Amino acid sequence: MDFDACRIEAEKLRRELTEHSYRYHVLDDPVIDDQTYDMLLRQLIDIETRFPELVTKDSPTRRIGAPPLTAFDTASHSVPMLSLDNAFNDQEILDFHARCLKTSGAHALAYTAEPKLDGLAVELTYENGVLVLATTRGDGYTGEVITDNIRTIRSVPLGLMDNKTPVPDFIEVRGEVIIRHKDFEMLNQHRLDKGEPVFANPRNAAAGSLRQLDSKITAQRPLTLFVYGVGVVHGLSFSTQAQMLESLSDLGFPVNPLIKKSISIRQVLENFKHLETLRPELAYDIDGMVIKVDDILIQQALGQKIKSPRWAIAYKFAAMEKTSKILDITVQVGRTGTLTPVAELVPVNIGGVTVSRATLHNADEIERKDIRIGDTALITRAGDVIPKVVKIVPGARTGEERVFVMPGTCPVCGSRVRRLDGEAAVKCINAGCSAQIKERIRHFVSKKAFDMDGLGKKLVEQLVDEKLVHCFADLFHLDRDTLAGLERMGSKSADNIIAAIEQSKTVSFPRFIFALGIDHTGEHAARLLARKFADLESLMAADTQTISAIHGMGETTAGAVTGFFSIEENIKNVKGLLDAGVSITNDLYGDADEKDNAVSGKTIVLTGSFDAMTRDQAKAKLMALGAQVPGSVSKKTDIVIAGAQAGSKLAKARDLGITVWDEARLLELILPGVKK
Ligand code: IVH
Repeated sequence: MDFDACRIEAEKLRRELTEHSYRYHVLDDPVIDDQTYDMLLRQLIDIETRFPELVTKDSPTRRIGAPPLTAFDTASHSVPMLSLDNAFNDQEILDFHARCLKTSGAHALAYTAEPKLDGLAVELTYENGVLVLATTRGDGYTGEVITDNIRTIRSVPLGLMDNKTPVPDFIEVRGEVIIRHKDFEMLNQHRLDKGEPVFANPRNAAAGSLRQLDSKITAQRPLTLFVYGVGVVHGLSFSTQAQMLESLSDLGFPVNPLIKKSISIRQVLENFKHLETLRPELAYDIDGMVIKVDDILIQQALGQKIKSPRWAIAYKFAAMEKTSKILDITVQVGRTGTLTPVAELVPVNIGGVTVSRATLHNADEIERKDIRIGDTALITRAGDVIPKVVKIVPGARTGEERVFVMPGTCPVCGSRVRRLDGEAAVKCINAGCSAQIKERIRHFVSKKAFDMDGLGKKLVEQLVDEKLVHCFADLFHLDRDTLAGLERMGSKSADNIIAAIEQSKTVSFPRFIFALGIDHTGEHAARLLARKFADLESLMAADTQTISAIHGMGETTAGAVTGFFSIEENIKNVKGLLDAGVSITNDLYGDADEKDNAVSGKTIVLTGSFDAMTRDQAKAKLMALGAQVPGSVSKKTDIVIAGAQAGSKLAKARDLGITVWDEARLLELILPGVKK
C-alpha cells in the first residue's frame, strides 16, 4: 500500500475501532469478538509504525500508554470544580428543597437524582471533538495533567461522535473515574501474586492508578469513567441537567444509567430509597445520591457558596453494615502503651472491602455494648473506612458466649498495666515493651513523620525483634550489610532503604516534633509548637504554662509535652538523633506540607533569582516538602526551577531534557491558593 492508500485505510480502521470500543465499553453491546478487535488494532499499529505522520490525537493506538513523565504538570480549571454539601436524612433534603424554592422564587422544582460515584473526579477538555487535555480535580482550582493516563481508559472517547448532538468547538466534561468491584478484586489478586501491597479499596486503587507517571501502568488498570457535568462549553447549549446528560451521551460519553429525573422532591426521596436497595448489588461503590436542580437557569440564579453550589446536594447513605461473628477478642499494645481490645471476626465483605478485625476501643466500651466472645455483631465501616462494631445481635446468643476480661499484665512484655484516674485507657508501664517500641518506630518512619520509604510494618517488626533497633537513632546507624542479611531482604532493597533513611535526615521542625510520638501531639499540635519555638532547645526548655498559652493548644497536650521532655530517656533519644546527623530545617512558613506533593522525593535545582523570596528560602521550603536541592544540574535532576536571569544551569537542563518550572509554578506549590 502506498501512503495515500494507507491514509485512507488508517482512517477506516480508526473509525471501526472507535465504534467497536464504544459498543463494548460504553454500550456494553459488542458486535465483534476480542480477537477480531485486536487484529484490526494490529493493522492500524502497522500502518502507523510505517507512517508515523498518520498518527492522530484520537487514534485508538494511543490508549496503549505514552513514554513516562518525570512529574505531573498542573493546570487550572477555568470553572472551579466545587464540592457538595452533605445531607444525612430526609429532613435535610426537604430543607434543601425549601431553600431552593425560596431563593429561586420558583413554585415547583424538578431534580436529577444521580448515584454519587466513589472514585476520582476528573475534567476532560475536547477541542473540535478531540481530547486534548485531562486533569484531576486537585484542590478544585488547580489539578494535575493526566492526559496520557486518561487516554488509556477504554470508555473515554478520544474523539467525539457526531450523532444527534453537533460536536461543540470546545467542551470541558467532568466525571468520575472508578474501578468496578470485580476488576478491583482481580487487580488486588494480581498484586498479591506478585508480592505487591494491595489497595485498601476501589477508590484508592483508582486514585493510585490515575496518578502514575508511567501511563503504560495505568493502561493495565481496569478504570472506568462516568460523566456528570461540564465546565466551559462553546458551540452547544442545554437548558436542563437532564438534557446536558443526554447530549453528553450522544457525543459518546458514558453516562450512568441509574440517573433519574424526578419531578418532585417526594420522587427524589423515593429514588433515594430505591438506590439504597440497589447499592449492595451494584458493580461499583457509590456513597450516596447527588441531587441537582434540573433547570440550568435556576441553577445559575441559585448560584454557589465558596466551596459548593446552592443548587445541588449529596444525600449520603448510612455506612454499610453487615453481621459477623466475633471469634475472639485480642489485645493490641499501642505506641504509648495503651492496651486496645480488638474483635477478631469471621471475614465479611463490607462495601467491597474484606473486614476481619474491628477495634473495640477499651474495656468500658465492651461493657457498655455488652460484647462477648462468640457474639454475632453488626459491623460497619465508619466513614466507610474504619471497621467498627455497632452492636451485638442478642437474639443470636446461644449461651456459649464468654465475657472478655482485660488482662492485668501486658500481653506482649508481661509488665504491670495501669489505668489512669478518669481515663478509660489501660496502659503497659514498660517503655521498653517491644510492642511499644515497634509502634513508636512505625510512627517515627511514617509518611507524615520522617517518611522513610520502604520501612513497612513487617520490616520494623523484624528490626525490633532482631534487636537491631531500640530507639529512633538506631535507624540511622543501620548498615547495608546488616539489612541485606535479614530474611526476605535483597541487596537492592537494602540499598533503597539505606538511601531512604539517608534522605530522611533533613526534616522540617513540625515533622520532627510529630515523629517523637508525644502523647496527644498530632500533626496540628506539632505545627503550633514549631511555629512558637525558634528551635528544639527552646521547645525542650519550655514550661507547661508557656505551651498552653499557645492559641489552639490544650492543657493536656502542654502537660504531655513537658512531661515528655522531663524524662531522661526521651532527652537522650532526641540528642541521639542529632548526633546521628539528623538536621532540622528552618521551615519558613512553619507549615510542612504533610500531603503528598509534587516535589516530595524529587531532586530539584534552583537557578536565577526569584521575586517573592531568596533562593535559600525557596530551598528551605522545598526541602521541607521532601525534595533534595543540590547546587548543580545532573542527569539525576528531576526539575529545574528557573527565576530571572537564569543562565548555564537552565541551558544544561534543556540539553538534558529536564522539566523546567518558572517561579509562578513554584509559588503555586509552596503557597497553594496564591496565584501570581
Ligand atoms: S457534581 C457542582 N455529580 O462528588 C457539583 N459529583 O463532593 C459538583 N461525585 O468531586 C459535583 N458523583 O468527585 C457530581 N453525579 C455526580 C457525582 C459527583 C460523584 C463526586 C465528585 C465531586 C464530589 C463532590
